Amino acid sequence: MHVFVMAAVLTLSTFFTQAAHAADDVSGEQAFNNNCRTCHSWKEGDNRLGPSLHGVVGGKSGSVQGYNNYSQSMKQAEITWDEASLDKFIANPDSVVQNNNMKPFSGVGDADTRKKIIEFLKSK
Ligand code: HEC
Repeated sequence: MHVFVMAAVLTLSTFFTQAAHAADDVSGEQAFNNNCRTCHSWKEGDNRLGPSLHGVVGGKSGSVQGYNNYSQSMKQAEITWDEASLDKFIANPDSVVQNNNMKPFSGVGDADTRKKIIEFLKSK
C-alpha cells in the first residue's frame, strides 16, 4: 500500500515538473500549434486550408498530393523546402513566393521560434 502511494506521488510530481518546464520553454510542437495549426496539419494526407506539411523539409514546393488550393505562384515556384528557404518563407512568405495564397498570415518575426518550428517539421 505504501509503495503504491509513493509511486503515485512521484508520478504526480514528475507531471507537474514537466508542465512547469513547458510553460517557460515553448516546444517546437507548441510553436507550430500557435502559428501554423489553424491552417496546416503535419499528418500525411491531412490537407486543410493549407497543404499537409508532412515531410515538407526536403520536399518540393507545390507538390502535396490531393491538395487543390495551390496558387499559380506556388505551383510554379520550383523551390526545394530546406531550412534556409523555409526560414525565409515563414518570416515573410511574399519575399519567397510572390502572390502566394498563405493568407492572412503575417509571418513569424522571431528567429528562434522559426527555428523550433522547422526542427519540429523535420521530425514529421
Ligand atoms: C491562414 C492560414 C495559414 C497559416 C496560418 C499558415 N499557412 Fe502555410 N499555407 C497556407 C496556404 C493556403 C498555403 C498554400 C499557398 C499557395 O499555394 O500559395 C500554404 C503553404 C505553405 C507552404 C508551402 C507548402 C508546399 O506544398 O509547397 C509551407 C512550407 C507552409 N505553408 C508553411 C507554414 C508554416 C510553417 C506556418 C506556420 C509558421 C504556416 N504555413 C502558416 C495557409 C496557411
